[in-house]
Amino acid sequence: MADATPVLRTRGMTRVLPGEVPVTLVEDISLSIRQGEFAVIMGPSGSGKSSLLYLLGLLDRPTSGQLWLDGEDTSGFDEDRLASIRLEKLGFVFQFHFLLAEFSAMDNVMLPMRKLGRLTEAQQRDRAHGLLADLGLDGHQHKRPGQMSGGQRQRVAIARALANDPLVILADEPTGALDTKSSIVVREILHDLAHRQNRTIIAVTHDPDFASAADRQIHIVDGRLTDNDAWRAEH
Ligand SMILES: Nc1ncnc2c1ncn2[C@@H]1O[C@H](COP(=O)(O)OP(=O)(O)OP(=O)(O)O)[C@@H](O)[C@H]1O
Ligand SMILES: [Mg+2]
Repeated sequence: MADATPVLRTRGMTRVLPGEVPVTLVEDISLSIRQGEFAVIMGPSGSGKSSLLYLLGLLDRPTSGQLWLDGEDTSGFDEDRLASIRLEKLGFVFQFHFLLAEFSAMDNVMLPMRKLGRLTEAQQRDRAHGLLADLGLDGHQHKRPGQMSGGQRQRVAIARALANDPLVILADEPTGALDTKSSIVVREILHDLAHRQNRTIIAVTHDPDFASAADRQIHIVDGRLTDNDAWRAEH
């Protein structure tokens, strides 16, 4: 069960791309995500799902409004601070895996641990090996992404997202580029992380089977939360 601590909270968050004709990506987003919550973001193509996820993942900054992560107001943080928070507290899974082609699965998973520098080399190896094994990739640890299937690569990407034991996992259509069988495997893994490991997960998805297992469905239309979600954010 999720407890009541909001791990991510936004108030009136808006992102406008400047230009001759400014483009509003998302508008007036007030949301609260609790520790252990499994939330999916759904909405039509172009409605602002990825834009919202990028803001929640500190990959983009709002032009107005606020975002708190782990109780801290992130408004005044500079790029270095944001990068270190992303590395330490957030894990990302995208539709396309973005693994480094010349690195093995192990090395890809160890990369965020190396950057954080909290574990010894031996501990990093152990942890990466274990994470990959937990995701059903025992025996594949030394393969490069090009030697693996799409579903296996996405599992490596999930292991990489878990590398630094993040507070929140953010996923943008993690099953969107997979065949049906692999997509079921990846879906089950994310469900398991949410329900058995009590991970906080925010995932953009078009997949109703993926969404139906979530604790909460956040709907976005034309860059705004639908009334129901906006109401819930205040309660
Ligand atoms: N760099 C940009 N310049 C101009 N418009 C942009 C830019 N990035 C996003 N947009 C527009 O902002 C809106 C929201 O985009 P976003 O990628 O967040 O949608 P989405 O809900 O993730 O869509 P999809 O389901 O297709 O991935 C879209 O109308 C998009 O065209
Ligand atoms: Mg998108």
